Amino acid sequence: MASKADTRPLSPHVQVWRWHATMASSILHRATGVANYIGAVLTAIWLVLLAMGPEAYGIVETLQTGVLGVIFTLVLIGFTFSLTYHMLNGIRHLAWDAGKGFDPKGSNLRSILIIIASVVITALIWILA
Ligand code: HEM
Repeated sequence: MASKADTRPLSPHVQVWRWHATMASSILHRATGVANYIGAVLTAIWLVLLAMGPEAYGIVETLQTGVLGVIFTLVLIGFTFSLTYHMLNGIRHLAWDAGKGFDPKGSNLRSILIIIASVVITALIWILA
């Protein structure tokens, strides 16, 4: 027998929502917020291993060699992007909180610009560092 939850009409939000840049940037803000938490924990573990001396830090050095080293670098690049994007979009949230920047066209454009700026800043950090 179908339960009440199975027969209840669903909101048509999935059918009527068109994918747009501001929506993607909002989802990305949440995803990067979660990634920042994970990155902050990994940074803390890295600092603890560093403080424990050469033997403990050897674990980090092992992770930096071979295929693991490539993954290690990709994770760091991802964390750089995550922090950069989350910060830039966080600044945009400040403008929203002040009641500015809600026009749909401008908001979509700024979403795309913030994503491009985050990629460019991440690339610059890695090229210069
Ligand atoms: C390691 C540092 C950070 C962590 C771990 C972090 C984590 C998070 C998480 C988990 C959320 C909730 C996302 C959601 O549920 O949709 C969030 C939201 C937010 N973060 Fe961060 N964040 C960090 C840094 C920053 C920075 C540097 C800024 C600003 C420059 C910022 C601005 C914001 C804003 C404005 C929101 C609210 C977004 C909304 O109202 O939907 N965050 N952050």
